[in-house]
Amino acid sequence: MEIKKDVSISTLTSWKTSGTVAQLWLGEDEADLLKFAQEEKKGKKFFILGKGSNLLIMPGQTDKIFFKLGPSFANYDFSGQKLRAGAAASLMGLALKARESSLSGLEFASGIPGSLGGAIIMNAGAHGREMKDILQEVRVFDKEREDFLTLSPEEMDFDYRKSFLKNQSRYIVIDALIKLKSADKDEIKNLMENYKEGRLKSQPWDYPSAGSVFKNPPGFSAGQLIDQAGLKGLAINKAQISEKHGNFIINLGGADSQDILLLIENVEKLIKEKYNIHLEREVIVID
Ligand code: EPU
Repeated sequence: MEIKKDVSISTLTSWKTSGTVAQLWLGEDEADLLKFAQEEKKGKKFFILGKGSNLLIMPGQTDKIFFKLGPSFANYDFSGQKLRAGAAASLMGLALKARESSLSGLEFASGIPGSLGGAIIMNAGAHGREMKDILQEVRVFDKEREDFLTLSPEEMDFDYRKSFLKNQSRYIVIDALIKLKSADKDEIKNLMENYKEGRLKSQPWDYPSAGSVFKNPPGFSAGQLIDQAGLKGLAINKAQISEKHGNFIINLGGADSQDILLLIENVEKLIKEKYNIHLEREVIVID
């Protein structure tokens, strides 16, 4: 197992905030998974990290070890209209590979900056499609039994931006089988480009962010509520509610996690006061 010390948070999350975490363990094989499971049983505290694209890590983390699947868990393989891919694979990368293979289904994911594992756990989505629409099975490592287990989509209990894997730490997603459909490569490309154009027009991808901070409350758009409440542009030091999209908090350069968390809490409070609506976080805060 590769163990890194004092790792900069800016290299671990898409928000690229300042500060460090004490330890990062990189798992490369089954022996590393076993070591992780056994160390946890002995009492060490862990947090499993993906590409950190939906994550706010508060600095000064000395009580937990961050564990990440390394590159050997990022392999993928196409077989007919199926794709088996490792949890550490980049979702955007897989969407491009599927396009090269004239396979349709992952177009919606071509702008989602996370790992496959993270996207599965939170049932990531865009453009009206979600991971649950394309997953055939998910293979996990069960730390308690120290063995692998294959879950069906039903067992995953997917919902809007969540699955049963979200609030637990017993299982680590290892890989998944994705069902795709043969299609014309140019059509796939056009769809991806349309999506990209829409995203670039309405979302601030020129700054580090975590995408949508809040889930859309039933019947409402979080971004629109924040916009209507007049909160766009509100800043705490170098963290700012985007002028372009109310549900994005951007790092203008050198933002602290604390500034972002304060903005999140302010938005929650103000939207509750103004509209009596509870905004549920899509991003996960590690403190
Ligand atoms: N709107 C405003 N002001 C704003 C932002 C949005 O009035 O500042 C309005 C828009 O004009 C639109 C409505 O709110 O009428 C919805 O906005 P948008 O189309 O941008 O979609 P969204 O619901 O904010 C969702 C996902 C995004 C995904 C897009 C495109 C959630 C929380 N967000 O955004 O996902 O990219 O649809 O499919 O479901 C993410 O999850 O990180 C993410 C970026």
